[in-house]
Amino acid sequence: MTAETVPFIEGSGPYWPDACAASGRDCPAPFSGDDLVRMQRRWADTPVVCRCHPHPARVGAVLRDPDTYLATECDRRLAGELARIAPHSRQALDDSDTFTTRVIRHALADGITQFLDLGSGHIATSAAHAAVVEHPEATIVHVDHDPHVDSHNLCDLTDDPVLMTRPRTLIHANAFAIGPMLASLHRSGALDRSRRLCVLLVDLLYYLDPEHDPRSVIRRLVKRLPPGSWVAVNHLTNQAPSTLDNPSARAAFRRDTDRWCKAMTRCVPPHPHASRHNEFARRIADLDLLPPGITTTGTWPAPDTTRLPQAPYTLAAVGRVPDRSERKPRETTGDRS
Ligand SMILES: C[S@@+](CC[C@H](N)C(=O)[O-])C[C@H]1O[C@@H](n2cnc3c(N)ncnc32)[C@H](O)[C@@H]1O
Repeated sequence: MTAETVPFIEGSGPYWPDACAASGRDCPAPFSGDDLVRMQRRWADTPVVCRCHPHPARVGAVLRDPDTYLATECDRRLAGELARIAPHSRQALDDSDTFTTRVIRHALADGITQFLDLGSGHIATSAAHAAVVEHPEATIVHVDHDPHVDSHNLCDLTDDPVLMTRPRTLIHANAFAIGPMLASLHRSGALDRSRRLCVLLVDLLYYLDPEHDPRSVIRRLVKRLPPGSWVAVNHLTNQAPSTLDNPSARAAFRRDTDRWCKAMTRCVPPHPHASRHNEFARRIADLDLLPPGITTTGTWPAPDTTRLPQAPYTLAAVGRVPDRSERKPRETTGDRS
């Protein structure tokens, strides 16, 4: 953070949508919850981003590297506030990166060489990008709906002569529009849907608006991907693991997570929503989970043994798409695909 960065004061604004230079309905960003829900359903509907507010990918870039060229002043102010509320914020990003890197390594060992990175963020700081680039036999498609992320990524790729020779694709679109996304990527040749692939949903699913059927994203992937494909997913949680039996420590963990989420509402939408363990389990119920089932980003593929979780804390799991012929009938909850 630069010396002249003025800190945000927790509890005092601006939170979204206040303090926007183009205030109220004139702001180009998705304004109301309804706009966002509609936008998250459509493949080509991407947000027009308002530069008056921080953005999660750029805030993550500051937490990873305080000198990053990617961030604006308000991104730096929010990164500082998050670090004060939750000193573990930087470690949480490292844990997500560890998860991504391990998943890619295990998927390659299982014979999967196609990766689909949803909500990819900046490839300059992406663990998925770094892990795949070391494997000439692997291809990766990065999908992100943010126009600034997309334009930075395009520059980073075209500036690098080695990357230019590697099959990889940047897509600027809505990653929650699963059906149109997979059809479009298959049509364009970016993905081969006759071969297994590994879908990475790292630090993305908890940006799905709560108005959506929470199970629908994974269900729609499972319906359309070749059996044996992998889906790796994590989710912010505000529920401490049962290993933490001290009630006041459990309440403090929940409070810190809620404060972290509140601070993130300084960003342009979508905003993060924490879930409980059983809600996350329901969201991924259509997958056949690899051992150890639900764990955390820092520990996968080992079980989570954390005694004192620190916010922001994410549950993680990797599952296989079951073979359709073997699939048991499942209850339906209004799949909108
Ligand atoms: C917290 S960043 C995570 C970046 C990356 N996955 C990682 O692990 O570092 C979330 C990213 O998801 C993108 N995003 C959020 N909603 C999206 C959507 N519906 N479609 C595509 N990208 C989305 C944001 O623009 C942002 O870059």
